[in-house]
Amino acid sequence: MAYIEELFGLKGKKGFVTGGAQGIGKVVATGMARCGMDVAIVDVNKEKAEEAAHQIEALGVRSMALVCDVTSAEAVDATVDTIATGFGGLDFAFNNAGIANNTPTEDIDLKDWQKVIDVNLIGVFLTARAAGRKMIASGGGSIINTASMSGHIVNRPQPQSAYNASKAGVIQLTKSMAIEWAPHKVRVNCISPGYIRTEMTVHVRQDWQDSWMRQSVLPSMGTPEDLVAGVLYLASDAAAFTTGSDLVMDGGFTVV
Ligand SMILES: NC(=O)c1ccc[n+]([C@@H]2O[C@H](COP(=O)([O-])OP(=O)(O)OC[C@H]3O[C@@H](n4cnc5c(N)ncnc54)[C@H](O)[C@@H]3O)[C@@H](O)[C@H]2O)c1
Repeated sequence: MAYIEELFGLKGKKGFVTGGAQGIGKVVATGMARCGMDVAIVDVNKEKAEEAAHQIEALGVRSMALVCDVTSAEAVDATVDTIATGFGGLDFAFNNAGIANNTPTEDIDLKDWQKVIDVNLIGVFLTARAAGRKMIASGGGSIINTASMSGHIVNRPQPQSAYNASKAGVIQLTKSMAIEWAPHKVRVNCISPGYIRTEMTVHVRQDWQDSWMRQSVLPSMGTPEDLVAGVLYLASDAAAFTTGSDLVMDGGFTVV
């Protein structure tokens, strides 16, 4: 076995990616499959989730598509149960589903503000809780949550107070779960990407995107591919001593 494979020990690990039907989730799930991991796709988008699961199966590992809204505790518990039963265990969870809203704070309706918190923060709590319960029972595992550089800084010029608050919440939730579950050998970490070219960002007003590039240290946006190795590391045995950490992958955006 190549040393890198031995070091990371990813082959045969079983788990799921929420928001895995497209964007960051789909690309990371594909990277996992290419390392021999069984990956279930959890998403509200049935058609795209099924397409992603088929593409992953074609790489020679097991997959399944589960339609699930991460804001529903019942749906999340049932979904995680189906995955753990179907795969015969649960080693990792990448809790990545998220949405944004760029309405100014003085104008946004409570229900729209709350929707962002529900998906980005409560959704991470519910999927992590369901995965954590399984991992506590089975003797350990790795949970990776998608936060954002928006949990550290306030993006400009777009208004996104709910998004920023939700992502700051994900970072502190991650650390809290890491402390609670360390005795159970369940590691909990998060990633904080900077601007990444996906459906979430490509349709944003061009003058805002131009402003991001003027503020950026590196001269372009990142791609989902830029995040794959970081998530694989946190899911792997190579990260056995890493818990409660936030891996910032933002092209240096938050350094200055
Ligand atoms: N794109 C960026 O610049 C960027 C930067 C930092 C963090 N992030 C975060 O990365 C994650 C993935 O974002 P992306 O850029 O790939 O976005 P995306 O819009 O391309 O993908 C998001 C996925 O989440 C799914 N989803 C949305 N609501 C859901 C729900 N309630 N239940 C289940 N699935 C749901 C969507 O159907 C979609 O497949 C998000 O948490 C986002 O906040 C993105």
